[in-house]
Amino acid sequence: MASAWVEPGRRNWAATEPSWGQWNIPEAELHLLPDDLAGMDAIELGCGTGYVSAWLARRGAKPVGIDNSAAQLATARDLQREFGVQFPLIHGNAERVPYPDGSFDLAISEYGAAIWCDPYAWIPEAARLLRPGGRLVFLGNHTLLQLCAPDELAPAGDRLLRDYFGLHRLDWPDDGSVEFALPYGEWFRLLRDTGFEIEDFLELQAPADATRDFDYVTAAWSKRWPSEHVFKAVKRA
Ligand SMILES: C[S@@+](CC[C@H](N)C(=O)[O-])C[C@H]1O[C@@H](n2cnc3c(N)ncnc32)[C@H](O)[C@@H]1O
Repeated sequence: MASAWVEPGRRNWAATEPSWGQWNIPEAELHLLPDDLAGMDAIELGCGTGYVSAWLARRGAKPVGIDNSAAQLATARDLQREFGVQFPLIHGNAERVPYPDGSFDLAISEYGAAIWCDPYAWIPEAARLLRPGGRLVFLGNHTLLQLCAPDELAPAGDRLLRDYFGLHRLDWPDDGSVEFALPYGEWFRLLRDTGFEIEDFLELQAPADATRDFDYVTAAWSKRWPSEHVFKAVKRA
């Protein structure tokens, strides 16, 4: 699917101000990034076209992007050349990152590891990679959306279609992809047990003027229920 992400990637690379998630909510509203990124070692877990890392680099951080799709990384490299922003891009699995313990001050994922990696693998891996006091920020689909989704590419309705308890791996029959989602008690316990303090937990709502519908969620749905969540956590000293 990498070819479908080239133009959205380019638009995000071109944006001077970060905005997040399906509804492009501005950074000024959500405050996902630490105030002072200058000099921070950062890793983007499942970086895709790499625009989040580009935003970090322009704010003075030293990002590294990891992704398991060679095609996505090829787009990221093209966009690095086009926009004149360079940072290392690693072809690999965000559940097993080839960096030593305590290499980073920030680990971030917007729809990368946040939904495509097993939380029981990638959250401990993020904890390992971070220095004490380091920050973990990730944005992905809200668990409520996953409970109401008939399929990955079909819009969520107003009925719960699967069990909440035991939620973990979602095998979508329409395209064979595998996503992960957890009940919230499990997210919080996993983060705590792997050494994080939760700084903030956001449930994102489509803005009142949003009209764009996506395959899997409509603007109307997300005005009633949260379609995305954000966790902001700090690794305990
Ligand atoms: C929708 S993109 C999100 C990245 C970026 N925010 C974007 O939109 O371009 C999801 C990315 O996660 C990557 N991904 C999925 N599983 C992965 C894994 N186990 N390790 C590293 N990257 C993974 C995919 O290859 C894809 O590039």
